[in-house]
Amino acid sequence: DRIRAAARDLRDADAAVALTGAGVSAPSGVPPFRGEDGIWNEYDPDALDVWRFRREPGAFWADWLDLRADLLDADPEPNPAHEALADLSAAGRLDALVTQNIDGLHRDAGSEEVVELHGNARRAVCRNCGWTTSADDAVARAESGDLPPRCDACDGALKPDAVLFGEQLPRDALVRARELAADSEAFLVAGSSLTVEPAASLPARAAESGATLIVVNLDETPLDARADYVFRGDVTEVLPALREAVGE
Ligand code: OAD
Ligand code: ZN
Repeated sequence: DRIRAAARDLRDADAAVALTGAGVSAPSGVPPFRGEDGIWNEYDPDALDVWRFRREPGAFWADWLDLRADLLDADPEPNPAHEALADLSAAGRLDALVTQNIDGLHRDAGSEEVVELHGNARRAVCRNCGWTTSADDAVARAESGDLPPRCDACDGALKPDAVLFGEQLPRDALVRARELAADSEAFLVAGSSLTVEPAASLPARAAESGATLIVVNLDETPLDARADYVFRGDVTEVLPALREAVGE
């Protein structure tokens, strides 16, 4: 069947890369951004963009604490989709994982080569000097003192170390993701609407250099027409099945 065929292509590829989005974390209880229970139905993206942070860091933090509570307070854990991807890497079938997620769950699941395109909300960074601390520490400061929480080194405002709208992606991560895409022979997209650039262009870059494209997503994506395999299903079912079919 199609799972077997996709698994064969994955196994035969000398370089295989996956790109994940919010749909992979949704089964862990982290709400996605778009769609029915999407974050952006409830929160105004403008209240959480980088201009708001620069203009009113205190008010930004008040909203961020709310969003964070919805996103991460349930203390999410990796689900079978994260585990299948970590397993594929351990078996040498997946060379790298590029993620748009900021929840750190791929590393929790044991994936090692993880490129975090949109940063990681478990850290906070000073906008002036680059001093970093854990998000828990920043939140503790925010809850016990004035907003925004501030840096120990220069007293600058701390910023969640996730990429905000209007902000550049971390350069090293983007360069690496583009290289990985261009060098891949198989490119697997899981749980992303593929609507946010530049991540959304990575699969096309892979396809241009001849990679087999595999898409696993509940809803349609703009890439479906170009993909070699489209699995319109739940990542917690399709990815473990794919992993199983790839074998050892
Ligand atoms: P989206 O919320 O845009 O898309 C999530 C996709 O996952 C949707 O197309 C759903 O159909 C699909 N999905 C949800 N649950 C699923 C499941 N159990 N199995 C399979 N598919 C499922 O999330 P992203 O594409 O990751 O940016 O969004 C990209 C970026 O937009 C995010 O990284 C964030 C946001 O603004 C930043 O934080 C900078
Ligand atoms: Zn500082």
